[in-house]
Amino acid sequence: MTTVKKYNFTYEDIHSTIRDASLAIKEADYQPDYLLAIGGGGLIPARIMRTFITRPILTVALSRYSDEIGTAPADTPIKLQWLEGKVNLNGKKVLVIDEVDDQRTTLDFTLNELIEHYPDTEFSAFVVHNKLKEKKGQLPEKLNHFFIGRDINDYWINYAWDAEDIATFGQ
Ligand code: G4P
Ligand code: MG
Repeated sequence: MTTVKKYNFTYEDIHSTIRDASLAIKEADYQPDYLLAIGGGGLIPARIMRTFITRPILTVALSRYSDEIGTAPADTPIKLQWLEGKVNLNGKKVLVIDEVDDQRTTLDFTLNELIEHYPDTEFSAFVVHNKLKEKKGQLPEKLNHFFIGRDINDYWINYAWDAEDIATFGQ
């Protein structure tokens, strides 16, 4: 019998991992001005992070799929929603948040776009889980800090927020 190796991360697991990471972020003496969630996976982690690092949350939304039905996922993500021109990030520190660093495609695309469009902003990133594997994407050299909640094996993760039945999640 083959067992599929996977992780089930409950809301409590995720909350604790983010709390511990927030302490490491404070120990590194890093104080962002904004949290920036990459939707959808980064939304709940960013909100939990705000409990410990009380800064406003900005969001961007990406998709691997275009609106055209039946098209294959794009190699580079598509911007569904981006930062409005009105937000002045000049001289600010922004902590970009996602739930998992898998192939690193999302972080590569998002961070490079942000750095290109906001040259006077200091970007750092936080992921709740980093899969230890060979990555397709790269982190930009200009990234200030890269904080990781937990390094994990390259197994599939079930997140609590994907549960249709939260009462039996992980059992
Ligand atoms: P990346 O996030 O490092 O770029 O990795 P990749 O392109 O390989 O990931 C494609 C999608 O699969 C991403 O969702 C990513 O969050 C999700 N994913 C990767 N590994 C896991 C896993 O183990 N469990 C779960 N539940 N999801 C995983 P996305 O396209 O960003 O969609 P969204 O959920 O953020 O909207
Ligand atoms: Mg995502």
